[in-house]
Amino acid sequence: MKTIIKNIKGLVGIRKMEQQWVSGKGMDQLETLENAYLAIEGENIVDFGKMEDLAIVDWRDLNVIDAEGRFVLPTYVDSHTHIVWAGSRVGEFVDRIHGLSYEEIAARGGGILNSAQKLRETSEEELYQSAKKRIEEVMHLGTGAIEIKSGYGLSVEGELKMLRVIKRLRETMPLTIKSTFLGAHAFPAEYKNNRKGYIRLIIDEMLPRIADLGLAEYIDAFCETGYFSVEETVEIMEAGEKYGLVPKIHVNQFNAIGGVEAAVQHKALSVDHLEEMNEDDFNALTSGTTMPVVLPSCSFFLSIPYAPARKMIDSGLPVAIATDFNPGSTPSGNMQFAVATACIKMRLTPEESINASTLNGAYAIGIAETHGSITIGKKASFFITNKIDSYAFMPYSFGTDNIDTVFIKGKAVRFSSLLD
Ligand code: NIG
Ligand code: FE
Repeated sequence: MKTIIKNIKGLVGIRKMEQQWVSGKGMDQLETLENAYLAIEGENIVDFGKMEDLAIVDWRDLNVIDAEGRFVLPTYVDSHTHIVWAGSRVGEFVDRIHGLSYEEIAARGGGILNSAQKLRETSEEELYQSAKKRIEEVMHLGTGAIEIKSGYGLSVEGELKMLRVIKRLRETMPLTIKSTFLGAHAFPAEYKNNRKGYIRLIIDEMLPRIADLGLAEYIDAFCETGYFSVEETVEIMEAGEKYGLVPKIHVNQFNAIGGVEAAVQHKALSVDHLEEMNEDDFNALTSGTTMPVVLPSCSFFLSIPYAPARKMIDSGLPVAIATDFNPGSTPSGNMQFAVATACIKMRLTPEESINASTLNGAYAIGIAETHGSITIGKKASFFITNKIDSYAFMPYSFGTDNIDTVFIKGKAVRFSSLLD
């Protein structure tokens, strides 16, 4: 059955299919149709236009939603999360308030290793149920597609366990999910003095099994002082490539050590974090097809610098925004908040932030042909706002949930007064 959303105050993010990302000045352009309709059928967008051009011969068997005073936007694409985890790290949060840094906590055996310990003690079923709950929460907040990383397993069994949970989420949840293998997230305590041994475990034991079971399409490494060096990251990217896993790499969160250039050279789909950037990093990004992904909620939570997204866009680069939803550095998967924080702290315009969190996010997980814009033939994944003045009201009223109804692949996943 067809559904028509009519009287839309502004239909935001209309794009031609060919446009797979936007960069530089193009990021500030966001085509919006006023007083519009949107037609969907099955999983897809089948038509849209001005209300005055809406010619329906037969209104029977038609589901009609009146969106008067409301905006319709494509759902967010959250291209960087670690949404599968066990327990919480609320104790470390309080430790940081008392003055310890993220790095100091990690050096004491907390941080990622703390989550790895908790994951070991948690059943696969429990892991699935808690991740499912988080996914339901973020879908309600407007996320329609998401990338999920492993990386709290740090052993063959642990990584496989996480990736199986991601697979099950992909099979059972309505939103689109992409899976990334992040065995190189931290060195487990037992390999502290045998880094080569852990790299071998990743390359010789984890990768072949993951590839064989088809459990991941991307490969990641935390390229950072105290974690994985540029050389180790390169070794991991090259091993992944042999199995057809495309790199998406954590770089420059605390230090610029050359990871951006290495990732771009290895045709990474994205480089993520980028809080610390030097000229070489900018030059590397200008030369490639790698999407820079910034994580404003992470900077907010850890009180670290924000990635220079304004400078990136002014240099002609594209930028994507994601949450980084994880228990240590960003315990929030709220894309509305990430978008608002990009506007407020990174000085992105509302248009740039929306493009960064939709189309460019879709590019960063290889789904721009089906997600990220209002385009005939793409998935009918969009949300309807409350009655608001303009779409800029969303980042302006940061912290407020401005969404009324969410559709993912043609089905309402958040019910509201509009659907009663
Ligand atoms: O993206 N930086 C590395 N990984 C995560 C944090 C993971 C954690 O602290 O558990 C991040 O911030
Ligand atoms: Fe991350």
